[in-house]
Amino acid sequence: MNTARFAVRTCAALLSVSNWCDCVAVQTTEPSWLLDQHRCMFCHTVDTPHRAPSFEQIAARYRDVPGAPGMLEEKLRKGGEAHWGDVAMPSAAERGGGPLSASDAHALVKWVLSQ
Ligand code: HEC
Repeated sequence: MNTARFAVRTCAALLSVSNWCDCVAVQTTEPSWLLDQHRCMFCHTVDTPHRAPSFEQIAARYRDVPGAPGMLEEKLRKGGEAHWGDVAMPSAAERGGGPLSASDAHALVKWVLSQ
């Protein structure tokens, strides 16, 4: 193989990897309609702890914890005990945004953990 052809191939391979990365990033695009409907930003921000831990803090704590996504999805839907302070996270019903489906909870947790 001559050097020029090798360079072209390597370049093409790198390009396809970067396209693949774009694709992965698209999957964790902010699910803004869900964040609005379920009023997440009423208490949370991405980077500043406010009434609740920031999504960056939450991601740093749980990103590498096995089983964390399932636990968090359950918590978003049904509520649960406090892990950060004295105030527990209200359940979907208490937040007033209507019921949160398992797939919507999954999308939200996936996005939160990508922060
Ligand atoms: C009424 C205020 C409020 C709203 C609205 C709210 N949160 Fe929270 N959230 C909290 C508080 C307070 C905590 C910290 C609870 C604790 O100590 O475990 C928390 C914790 C969390 C956690 C970490 C839970 C844990 O067990 O560590 C996640 C993930 C989360 N919120 C995501 C969301 C998402 C996504 C939404 C929108 C669907 C949302 N929150 C809406 C107040 C809120």
